[in-house]
Amino acid sequence: MKNISKIASGIEPSATLAISELSKELKAKGVDVIGFGAGEPDFTTPDNIKQAGIKAIETDKSYYTATSGILPLREAICKYINDIFGVQYEPSNICVSSGAKHIIFISLQVLLDPGDEVILPAPYWVTYAEAIKMCGAVPVILDTTEETRFKITPEQLESAITDKTKCLILTNPSNPTGMLYNEDELKAIGNVIIKNDLYLIADEIYATLVYNGKFVSAAAISSELKERTIVINGVSKTYAMTGWRIGYAAANKQIISAMANYLSHSTGNASNVAQYAALEAYSCDQESVKKMNIEFAKRRQYFIDRVSKMDKVSCLEPDGAFYIFMNVSKTFGTELCGEKINSGSDFSQALLKHGLVATVPGIAFGNDNYVRWSYATSMENITEGLNRLEKFLNSEPTA
Ligand SMILES: Cc1ncc(COP(=O)(O)O)c(C=O)c1O
Repeated sequence: MKNISKIASGIEPSATLAISELSKELKAKGVDVIGFGAGEPDFTTPDNIKQAGIKAIETDKSYYTATSGILPLREAICKYINDIFGVQYEPSNICVSSGAKHIIFISLQVLLDPGDEVILPAPYWVTYAEAIKMCGAVPVILDTTEETRFKITPEQLESAITDKTKCLILTNPSNPTGMLYNEDELKAIGNVIIKNDLYLIADEIYATLVYNGKFVSAAAISSELKERTIVINGVSKTYAMTGWRIGYAAANKQIISAMANYLSHSTGNASNVAQYAALEAYSCDQESVKKMNIEFAKRRQYFIDRVSKMDKVSCLEPDGAFYIFMNVSKTFGTELCGEKINSGSDFSQALLKHGLVATVPGIAFGNDNYVRWSYATSMENITEGLNRLEKFLNSEPTA
């Protein structure tokens, strides 16, 4: 039989798979594992949004819609972006899709030719690198460290640019580090983008989950930068709607119409019913978002306080999102609960096996000195998970 495509065979399986499989195996055996891997809010979708979805079913919102999304939703998104982020768009600047992940994929398909380079600051959300490769393009990884709070500098960006560079992907706030680029930093990076005639994919899916500092959208920096920026956002994280699968891109009309063409021959429109639920999410008062954010902020503070008292692990205080990117490199070369630890992956595996706590090894995000913890789980779980971590660091197994 002939081989499957070179592109398909080059796609890496998710690096989180090994740990999540071990975690499932343990759970299936009735072992009490606490999961910190999930990149999704543990809250349920707010009631008014659920009701809008139910109403959409009852009123037969069961047909195809415009490929780029129903007009009322695109209008509501424009109003929301203007109210919350101070950026003006028209509905023809918006393309709705089946989740932010999908519109990131479509953005890359629209921008890239085979051989093009995309600059990707590490630690990065794992999907980007594979989605770039799916276009036959090349991810160019820019490593960052705690010294710059995991943020790239304009000089670093400039030095990575070649005549093949097409765009930069910037996640703000970041998954996995939670770091936030401020207005001046965005301006400086934007200047490099403009000067070198690049595009910017600004993944702002965590924009409303900020606890420290003020979020500024890349598109708010200048009209010049806005013109060459594709802003990515969606309902998953802000409204606890991961399973509804609604995301959107905001960009110039040429890009949006090319995206709609791509969608029209692939998924077609995003779920009609889910679009009505998203319409409610973007149009209603944002009280439920505030409530969830207050809870996330409490958990974040508790997490940081506990970790600051541990001497073998550490973390920078994240500005946003709901992740702690924990530096575990001090444990390298030692044994914990009888396991040799030489990487974040070793740490994560051993913590799961002996501490019954599931985390994501940093290698999934391009840096194996770390493990990522999501605090999108209950305070009770966080407290017990950190108790187990402390025991593990003292080589006392929970299992
Ligand atoms: C940085 C980032 N972008 C995009 C997504 C995807 O969001 P969605 O559920 O809308 O596909 C995620 C989800 O984990 C994410 O962390």
